[in-house]
Amino acid sequence: MSKDYVIDEMISAKAIAARIEELAREIRGEFGDTPQLVLVGLLRGSFVFIADLVRELDLAVEVDFIEASSYGDAMESSREVRILKDLRSGIEGRDVLVVEDIVDTGHTLAHVIHMLKGRGPARLKTIALLDKPTRREADVKADWIGFSIPDEFVVGYGIDYAQRNRNLPFIGKVRFPG
Ligand code: PRP
Repeated sequence: MSKDYVIDEMISAKAIAARIEELAREIRGEFGDTPQLVLVGLLRGSFVFIADLVRELDLAVEVDFIEASSYGDAMESSREVRILKDLRSGIEGRDVLVVEDIVDTGHTLAHVIHMLKGRGPARLKTIALLDKPTRREADVKADWIGFSIPDEFVVGYGIDYAQRNRNLPFIGKVRFPG
């Protein structure tokens, strides 16, 4: 069965890697003094980004995950954010960096920040590979952003369309011809 959509490359794997190197340098500048940073990846979309980011960070880090869902398989975001899996570790008094693949309406990131702040971390910062500022509904902005993009339907590098295409090494734009 053929696909009814086409994926055009929007951000190459090389451009992503170069940007992650820059971001890692900035994060080391911010967190270089911390005994052990906790990187919190938001599943599922961030699994590729966090894997590349953590290997560029020459720091002592713990990696943990939260699974949050706001989309289901639909293309439109709902306002409801569900936490399907919480952290294994406590973060009280610790330095935390939340790693998100894309900030769209911002409801997911806003919800997670609110939840984690309630646990008393020393520092809580956020990074998103992609940001779609024109779609924002919640009052939130990641501290570090890889690429600010227009309101396009994107896939790849961890981001899915109906649970497919997460394994593309680049960020692509989905197009529906005809
Ligand atoms: C997507 C994406 C972000 C969130 C962004 O996750 O990975 O986490 O939506 O949207 P928002 O800014 O409008 O809240 P999704 O809920 O689709 O789950 P997934 O990561 O498992 O694909």
